[in-house]
Amino acid sequence: MSVPPSARSLVVRDATPEDAPALAALLAELGYPTPPDVVAARLAALVGAGDRALVAVDGSEALGLLTVHVTPVLHRPTAVGRLTALVVAERARGRGVGRALVAAGERALAARGCALIEVTSNRRRTDAHAFYERLGYTGTSLRFAKTLAPEGLRAGCDTGVRLPAEPGPTAPARSMR
Ligand SMILES: CC(C)(COP(=O)(O)OP(=O)(O)OC[C@H]1O[C@@H](n2cnc3c(N)ncnc32)[C@H](O)[C@@H]1OP(=O)(O)O)[C@@H](O)C(=O)NCCC(=O)NCCS
Repeated sequence: MSVPPSARSLVVRDATPEDAPALAALLAELGYPTPPDVVAARLAALVGAGDRALVAVDGSEALGLLTVHVTPVLHRPTAVGRLTALVVAERARGRGVGRALVAAGERALAARGCALIEVTSNRRRTDAHAFYERLGYTGTSLRFAKTLAPEGLRAGCDTGVRLPAEPGPTAPARSMR
């Protein structure tokens, strides 16, 4: 049984590769089971792209994770900040860990010039919706999502999904229809 975090002992810091096993456990709680080595590779890519992964720790115990992203846009005067993943270990929920993570994420995004912060949350996560509203977020939009075919994934970004290799130069050309 874990000791509840106190306000004094909770620290929010940038995640490191050594955190990968703990982050993998947190992502599994979020519903995204991911092997630690894949988490480590994705963390490196995420940080390399300028995003932040913040981890809330009590002593050596990782209790929560928040990743944040800055989206430059043309239609607003400032970039838009996005909370891209948030989870607190079930054993530590309801004790201010999520609030501390979001506060740190907001500071990080404000420092990058974001005047608006948004988050997407699945309709079924009603507890999370109440949490965000408590923190001052308002439900304003609907999200429309589409899963791309593998070709679209390959042409886009590396999500960690391993796809079959592209056909080499000797492969027969495919006709376009
Ligand atoms: C949502 C989640 C991140 C909240 O983290 P948490 O550490 O439990 O939240 P906190 O203890 O920091 O709560 C902050 C405030 O929100 C309120 N709150 C949290 N959950 C709530 C709920 N289900 N209903 C109403 N209020 C809630 C708290 O009462 C607290 O208010 P207060 O500080 O004024 O007392 C956490 O429950 C979680 O990981 N859930 C599962 C994963 C998930 O849904 N992630 C979000 C995906 S979009």
